[in-house]
Amino acid sequence: MKNKKKMKENVKEAYGKIARNNGKCGCGPAGACGTDTGKFAKSIGYTEEELNNIPKDANLGLSCGNPTALASLKKGEVVLDLGSGAGFDCFLAAAKVGKEGSIIGIDMTPDMIKKAKANAKKNGIDNVDFRLGDIEKLPVDNNSVDVVISNCVINLSIDKQQVFQEIQRVLVPGGRIAISDIALKKELPAKVRENVAAYIGCVGGAVLIDEYKKIVVGSGLKDVKITVKGTSNCVGPDTKDPISKAALDGLGEGESIDDYIASMYVEGHKS
Ligand SMILES: C[S@@+](CC[C@H](N)C(=O)[O-])C[C@H]1O[C@@H](n2cnc3c(N)ncnc32)[C@H](O)[C@@H]1O
Repeated sequence: MKNKKKMKENVKEAYGKIARNNGKCGCGPAGACGTDTGKFAKSIGYTEEELNNIPKDANLGLSCGNPTALASLKKGEVVLDLGSGAGFDCFLAAAKVGKEGSIIGIDMTPDMIKKAKANAKKNGIDNVDFRLGDIEKLPVDNNSVDVVISNCVINLSIDKQQVFQEIQRVLVPGGRIAISDIALKKELPAKVRENVAAYIGCVGGAVLIDEYKKIVVGSGLKDVKITVKGTSNCVGPDTKDPISKAALDGLGEGESIDDYIASMYVEGHKS
């Protein structure tokens, strides 16, 4: 990528706009550009009961799986959510760890943090601490977190290796990860990879599944397991949506974006 700093600013600006618009348009079809976010969430692994028990405005339709279902969270645990958006998974995790546990949500976009804090306040949820920060330089103490979760965020990082080194630093010995993310089945056409809208829409920044695994293993995490789930839901047939247009325009004759990208779960632990 030519200008990493500029791309991070583009991502921040785009997600700020999504936060201010309450998820309406700005992301892919998964970003509530005319979609029903509840229906969409159910299609990627959330239950009706879970959705009924969290602040309604927390689900902006920006997820690609349900890491809180994967994490086997227990009462009293400390959970860190990387790229917490409007607080969707933080609120689900908060209910699972109970009053004796706590959640830290990190996001670099001020309007996302503002929205997440307002959601917590409005709903009297007091065991979640939303912090403005970069997942490549976590404002979190060493050896202080039992579980790291994240949902459709690490693909957006310009330095994924640094993100996993930070995860390794903040986890307690024996701590675990339960991450939902997007990765590539094969290299994207250059036209898609270089498109800013496709990057913001969790397509252009994705790396190959094998490369992703190498990065996680390279950080020192053990028993790393990647489970490819299927289609990414990042791109839909609506070519008026800028992300779908960017992705679909760059594909060859007869190709589908699902030939290239997939959603997956990533598990592992610190020894
Ligand atoms: C696709 S959204 C997912 C939000 C949330 N996890 C969900 O499922 O609703 C990506 C989020 O990651 C945040 N983000 C992207 N890159 C980041 C970084 N380097 N550090 C912190 N937050 C980041 C964005 O601001 C945005 O809120």
